Amino acid sequence: MDGNGRWAKQRHRPRTFGHRAGQKAVRAIIEACLRRGIEALTLFAFSSENWQRPKDEVGALMELFLKALDREVGELHGHGVRIRFIGELAAFAPALRERMLAAMDKTTGNTKLALNIAVNYGGRWDIAQAARQVAQAAVRGEIDATRIDEAQLGSHFALADLPPLDLFIRTGGEKRVSNFLLWQLAYAELVFSDALWPDFDADHLDAAIADFAARERRYGKTSAQVSSAYSGAH
Ligand code: FPP
Repeated sequence: MDGNGRWAKQRHRPRTFGHRAGQKAVRAIIEACLRRGIEALTLFAFSSENWQRPKDEVGALMELFLKALDREVGELHGHGVRIRFIGELAAFAPALRERMLAAMDKTTGNTKLALNIAVNYGGRWDIAQAARQVAQAAVRGEIDATRIDEAQLGSHFALADLPPLDLFIRTGGEKRVSNFLLWQLAYAELVFSDALWPDFDADHLDAAIADFAARERRYGKTSAQVSSAYSGAH
């Protein structure tokens, strides 16, 4: 969700004004996903590197998250949304962490849309924490370290229970992944939108989905194999 700061700057307003506008876009995109029957949506709200921003911007973002949780969780629950926060939650203030945990707890049985909010998240962090878990299981003698494979490591990622990632969208014009879902991106389709996040609406989402739908996903096979519904081993 890149571009909040630039959106505010264009309007000669402080960066936090852009984040507040960004929050409205979050709401609209969640609604659009619900209406389109999208199974899972993962939003990169705060990276592990974002702590380095000016103190007042970080404080304002935390305040925004806190208020959004208080205001939105009930309604999201009513719509069957399962909320999950992924990332190193221990770094957040207790009041915020408690609300995150309560939101996850309250909505854990919902199945309409898996809404994952990445906070203090980094793709490398996710890989490291999964590696730590398999290493600990090996030390306990529960698994054979020489047999650790992709499936075993993959089962420890934050979103391991969700279907493979289909579509990655970065707004704000930059063409970078910036330590988002690194492992999960292996075969995802990437869409880079010039729209600044506060301007990203359902029409932009539909354009990204149309772009995605027009691509041929070969997973390493040839085009002929894919188009003839080749059914050989993966
Ligand atoms: C990146 O834009 C955006 C962020 C670091 C914050 C994202 C937060 C929100 C959209 C607010 C609400 C979110 C939730 C889940 C309630 P930037 O500040 O890097 O923009 P710039 O590149 O134009 O400076």
